[in-house]
Amino acid sequence: RERTFVMVKPDAFARGLVGTVISRLEDRGLKLVGMKVEVLDEETAHEHYAEHTDKPFFDDLVDFITSGPVVPMVWEGEDATRQVRQMIGATDPLEADAGTIRGDYALDLGRNVVHAADHEDEGANEREISIHFDDDDLVSYEGHDETWLYE
Ligand code: GTP
Ligand code: MG
Repeated sequence: RERTFVMVKPDAFARGLVGTVISRLEDRGLKLVGMKVEVLDEETAHEHYAEHTDKPFFDDLVDFITSGPVVPMVWEGEDATRQVRQMIGATDPLEADAGTIRGDYALDLGRNVVHAADHEDEGANEREISIHFDDDDLVSYEGHDETWLYE
């Protein structure tokens, strides 16, 4: 099944929302296969947000994402990338539906709780997972509930 990269951002970490984000993804049925706590250095942040290098908000984005602990994670499941993007909601919390993570826990575009790999960007998962994890940081196991999650 598909693996997707998700990261709790420093705002959510500071607000004690790490468990909430994890619970939401767990409750959906997605399977956690990798996770750590770290403070990103500038080089890693640049790599992570490489697609936004030329945007006017890039420097603020890098300052923010390196400003405190983050929780990079890898989640696995059927169509995991699209499932997670749907659960996270629109980039701007004002546009995010209630019931999505950003729609329920964020107010500001620049403090939107969680990052997830873009489903429209073909290589995003592979690239982002490899920025934050080594192969042997990720586990493989059979979820006890998979018979009931999938047809
Ligand atoms: P991520 O999962 O964080 O990548 O969000 P996204 O994929 O929904 O949005 P995108 O990749 O387009 O932008 C990355 C991050 O940059 C967003 O999560 C916002 O925090 C921030 N951002 C995006 N657009 C703007 C903007 O116009 N102004 C500012 N200040 N920040 C922005
Ligand atoms: Mg993005």
